[in-house]
Order: sequence, then C-alpha cells, then structure tokens
Amino acid sequence: MNIHVEIGDFRQAETDAVVIYVFEDSDIHNELLRTADAALGGRIQAVLDLGDFKAKLKNISVLYTNGAIASPRILLVGLGSFDELTVEKVRQAVGHTACHVRDMGLKTVAFHVPTEAQDEWIQAAAEASLLSLYQFKVHKTESGDDDEDKTLESLTFLVESGFGKSAVERAVARGQAIANGTTLARDLSNQPGNHLTPTRLAEKAQEVAEATGLTCDVFDKATLEEKGFRTLLAVAQGSVEEPRFVILDYTPEGEGQDTVVLVGKGITFDTGGISIKPSSKMGDMKHDMSGAAAVIGAMQAIGQLKPNVRVIGIIATTENMPSGTAIKPGDVVTSYGGKTIEILNTDAEGRLILADALGWTAQYNPNGVVDLATLTGAVITCLGHVAAGAMGTNSDLMEKVKAAAEKTHERVWEFPLWDDYDEGIKSKVADVQNIGDGTAGTIAGGAFLKKFAEGYPWVHLDIAGTAWGMKGSTYIPEGATGWGVRLLVQLVEDW
Ligand code: BES
Ligand code: MN
Ligand code: ZN
Repeated sequence: MNIHVEIGDFRQAETDAVVIYVFEDSDIHNELLRTADAALGGRIQAVLDLGDFKAKLKNISVLYTNGAIASPRILLVGLGSFDELTVEKVRQAVGHTACHVRDMGLKTVAFHVPTEAQDEWIQAAAEASLLSLYQFKVHKTESGDDDEDKTLESLTFLVESGFGKSAVERAVARGQAIANGTTLARDLSNQPGNHLTPTRLAEKAQEVAEATGLTCDVFDKATLEEKGFRTLLAVAQGSVEEPRFVILDYTPEGEGQDTVVLVGKGITFDTGGISIKPSSKMGDMKHDMSGAAAVIGAMQAIGQLKPNVRVIGIIATTENMPSGTAIKPGDVVTSYGGKTIEILNTDAEGRLILADALGWTAQYNPNGVVDLATLTGAVITCLGHVAAGAMGTNSDLMEKVKAAAEKTHERVWEFPLWDDYDEGIKSKVADVQNIGDGTAGTIAGGAFLKKFAEGYPWVHLDIAGTAWGMKGSTYIPEGATGWGVRLLVQLVEDW
C-alpha cells in the first residue's frame, strides 16, 4: 500500500473515515476540534462532555457524520498529553489506529496531520501504519474468517493548506522506504527453510540490488573454496544445499566518505547439526537468518534513501544439518583469517560462519562494523523479547548504535566483553573453541566473535530474542519482526 499526501480540508475528504489525532490536555487542538464540532453540530462536544473520549493514548471514538461532511465517519484518536508525547507513542497510536480501521472493514482512510506534527512524528506515523498492517499470507490458499480477509486499500495523510506539503512528503517517503525494508526482512525471515534456501536468499539479495542500484557479488561454493571460507564451508558440509556469501555495496557519489559494514547471520535452517536440537520449537529455526534479512532490508532502504556514507552489507548463508558429511564435535577448522577453531558443539554454528565473514570484512578498512545474529538462546534468558544484547570493542560506535536504538525503539542493552571472558573459549588443541564454559552464554558468543573482528571498530547485536516472538506492540506482529532494519538505517543516516 502506498501512502498519499494531500492538501485539503478534512471536511471535503471523500474517504471511509477521517482520523483526527487529539491531545489530552492542551488547547493546541481546539481550533481543529472546534471546526469539526461545528461541522457536526456539537457532537464532538457531546462526546467529550459525556466523558466517552478522554484522548488518552490509543483511545478511539467513532462518530457518524450523517452527511455533515463528505466522509461518513470521523475517528477521534488520543495521543495522550502533548508534553509527554514521544515518537514511540506516535507509532503506538497510529499503528493501533491502522489496525482498528482495517478491522472495521474500511477501505480508504485519511489521517489528518496535526499542524504541530514534527517530521519525525510523520515519518514514524508512516512507518507504523504500514508495519502494523503487515501479514504473512503467501502460503495460504484458503481465505480465513471474515476478519482475516479485511484489507485497507488506501491511506492518505491529509495536510492543511499552508502547512508545507513537501516536508510531509519527504517524511512519508522516508517512513515508507524504511517500512518496506522492514517488511522485506519480515517476509524473508518468515519464509520456511524449504522455500528460502541459501541459494534463494542470495538471489533475493541480488534482486534487491538490481531494483535499488546497489552492486552485488555472490560467492558460490567453488568460489568459497578457492578463497578459503573454510568455516562457512564447514557448517555447510552437512547439507545438500550449497552455501552462499553475498556482498551488497552502496557507494555514494563523491569521495572521502566513511565506510560502514553491516554483517548478517544467514542460517536458513538450524537443526543444530550433529549436536542436534530438541524438536520442540525447532521449527522456529527457519528464522535463524533474521540477521541476514535485516541487512538486506536495511540495504534496500539505504539504496533508496542515499545517505552520504558507503555502506557494505555482508551475508553468510547456509543450512546447519546433521548428516554423514556434517562436521562433528571435536573437528578443527581454519577460518578465513587463519585462526583455528575447535568445534565442540555444532549448534554454535552462527559464530563459525561469522568468523569468516568478520575476517573478510577487514579488507574494507571500515570505520564501523555491526553484525546482527540470532546467536544465543541465552540472550532471551537475559533480556527476554524486549531488547537485543549488544557487545563491542569501540565505545564511540557503541554510543552511535545505542542512539539509533533509542530513536527507533529497537532497543539494545550492552554486555561487557572483558578479557576475563576469553578464558571460557580457550581450546586445548586449537586457537579457540566455539562454546563457552556454560556460563554467560551470550557473552561467550561475543568473546568468540571478538577474536575475528580485528582491525576495526565493531559491535555485535545478538537478536535471538527480538527477531521473532516480541509481544505487546501494535506495529510488531507475531512471527518475524524485521528487527534491526530501522536501527541500521538510522545509524547510517546519523553517521
Ligand atoms: N540459532 C541458535 C540460537 C537461538 C536459540 C536463537 C533459540 C533463538 C532461539 C544458535 O545457533 C544456537 O543454537 N546457539 C546455541 C549456542 C550454544 C550451543 C553454545 C544456544 O543458544 O543454545
Ligand atoms: Mn545453532
Ligand atoms: Zn543458529
């Protein structure tokens, strides 16, 4: 769905409903409310007097206009107190409203844009309306019950004349690009393992590159062998599916820009390998490429928004399967950069493929590297499905990531990577082993990756808790969340 921006009087809007956002405690909206109230012959005043609508966050009242204005309905939607409004509250209120009008069965809706709306609010409103309406239905051939089949067809952001339409259009376009990137990431992550193989994931990245004007290199198995991506190949050797390594490159015009590299874990299905997982919830492991999905989604948005920084998106992708050719506990492999790894648990495969990816990354002399990976179940024990675990080697980069996380409400929480944690990943036979000592599992993963993220500022985001299964937010669905796209785009845009 596209969002249209139009200038006009809400009384003339020919649409199934006009939505008016109302602050709880300020006079700011009196002008608009007075106009609407006058048009409706005092019905808004009546609703307020009866106490049926208090403009608390996400409060909704539906008024029927009986021909008094062009639209048959006015929806009053509460934003809470003006002084306490945050961008996240805008997302919550607008996301809730979009779902509400969709569930009412409405097809066309106009959101009146308050004159005091800041650009960030408008961008957030565009993002939240698109993200809240997200559904993954590609494998459904039968229509569900009535409610499931309702779709909103058109959404207009209605601007009062004299308000500056182009600024609103810019904010909406940004919101749309970012929401579309997030939607792409959700779609990729929700695809089951038989539909989204490593080969297919790489093709998807290529399609995005072609559509967005990025360059894209894909290394197939033979190329990976030639170049020495031995840990990626080691994880892949148990599967009949070939691995892929993808490099997406956005280079802005001009010279001398910084380079940021985004790295994503792309396990299209994680059985655990020979260290096989229990079958309950194993189906969720189709989402184990959510880091890669976030990188592809972010690169799509970055290609469209064209920030003034070079951004390289890197994806290492394979299945992790048990078989007669699979890696075994105790095997030793050599990573791209030459360090040897003793594989004590084949289910700690994400860090193995990232070891090669992080080694490869050094050649770009990046000013910052952020990897996203559904790396450890332990991060869910620590932070639940609320925030991603963050670890890194550079406080400047970490602060940038935290600032982007705060702005987008894709929140992160930092764990320490003190040298003390290196003890747990010491191997008797190789340079390092791939599991910790059983304590601080998320940090053990970070400590392992640190050994391969050498020569550049680096932050690792463990998104095992946030990539799917987040609850309680109007614009975040069940299943894949697309977590990280908004954070990464913000990081790059603020660089
Ligand atoms: N993909 C999993 C992590 C995961 C588990 C994500 C549950 C979301 C929910 C990862 O590859 C894995 O299996 N990690 C192991 C590491 C352990 C063997 C050191 C884990 O967390 O159990
Ligand atoms: Mn695993
Ligand atoms: Zn995994």
